[in-house]
Amino acid sequence: MDVISVIRTKRDRGELTGDQIDWVIDAYTRGEVAHEQMSSLAMAIFLNGMNRTEIARWTAAMIASGERMDFSALTRPTTDKHSTGGVGDKITLPLAPLVAACGAAVPQLSGRGLGHTGGTLDKLESIPGWRAHLSNTEMLDVLSAAGSVICAAGDGLAPADKKLYALRDVTGTVESIPLIASSIMSKKIAEGTGALVLDVKVGSGAFMKHLDDARELAATMVELGTDHGVRTTALLTDMATPLGRTVGNALEVRESVEVLAGGGPADVVELTLALAREMLDAAGLKDANPAKALADGTAMDHWRRMITAQGGDPDAPLPSAREQHVITAPSSGVLTTLDAYAIGLTAWRLGAGRARKEDPVQAGAGVELHAKPGDAVVAGQPLLTLHTDTPEKLPYATEALEGAYTVAPSGTAFSASPVVLERIG
Ligand code: URA
Repeated sequence: MDVISVIRTKRDRGELTGDQIDWVIDAYTRGEVAHEQMSSLAMAIFLNGMNRTEIARWTAAMIASGERMDFSALTRPTTDKHSTGGVGDKITLPLAPLVAACGAAVPQLSGRGLGHTGGTLDKLESIPGWRAHLSNTEMLDVLSAAGSVICAAGDGLAPADKKLYALRDVTGTVESIPLIASSIMSKKIAEGTGALVLDVKVGSGAFMKHLDDARELAATMVELGTDHGVRTTALLTDMATPLGRTVGNALEVRESVEVLAGGGPADVVELTLALAREMLDAAGLKDANPAKALADGTAMDHWRRMITAQGGDPDAPLPSAREQHVITAPSSGVLTTLDAYAIGLTAWRLGAGRARKEDPVQAGAGVELHAKPGDAVVAGQPLLTLHTDTPEKLPYATEALEGAYTVAPSGTAFSASPVVLERIG
């Protein structure tokens, strides 16, 4: 087999054979296929797509590139959630201990933020002492002790995806349905969860800007999961505006703890409960009552156990940024738009995100939202607070807010988008 013929097949809109796919994934993982060759193939796939047979084989080859985890020794059913990435999407933080409190085991392998979307591990690392990197044995120990674990995927899990995702990130080939579906599902299937709920984000702050694309991505992933024996469903959820009232690492941890304490913003609580019900149903725990577990403190107990088991101090004060800068409402009326992408980009420029994989993030940086679409505002009231340790970047950050929000005259009709748009599976 030679890589140039594989690239030519896809460049000329042909269908890749199973043997071509198996070979190219394996050869790339071993370093026999060069990055520039894989980058050319990824662009050909980005432009010309792959059919369902090709996607299934591509996913299977990426799973086979590494190890598969085995949770069969656990007495509880395993269930997991994966979000395609959004702005202010801190749902994993309250969700994992909540579902654990309801009787399931939640092995949540998570990632870091890149670009305008935040990463669960970056958020949790703002808790003093908390460790993202665990060995497989440590991961199982935390899962047994706390019912849930949120950690980085080990190097042995779908190594082909690790290389390919990093390559796609720097070659403009991320936003491809076949490549996103195979990337996410190879990791989730290799992780060994019995059930999986996908939170597929739609809107300006998501990879999928349009409902039709999100539907296709969700249906592709549900089919891949089901074919591999993982009970998989998907919710399509709104990402036109940020989730909750905070965007940034420590800021989002603080808001997640509010949710676990029985409070927090209504949209975060609604989505956390909707995903918890899906995860518990998929795990066969149909009688569980997640709303009760949030209200009576059992979810909070599980959070504290999970954070402690990973070396963190759940009572330690969270870091805050050195400087705050308030943006006020330009006029009185009703806030009708607050763009997720613009807010995500602002938080990233303030230091909450990274430009390159190896960059550090600021724990305290981010954006606090004092109003959400539909809220009445008065001219001069605080609309946003920007938090940063690098105030010299404020002009660059605030540039991203150009056109990010609209205040319409009072009485302007406004209809809020539902948090959950559709269910697939
Ligand atoms: N998340 C992933 O893990 N892979 C993608 O391709 C996109 C989002």
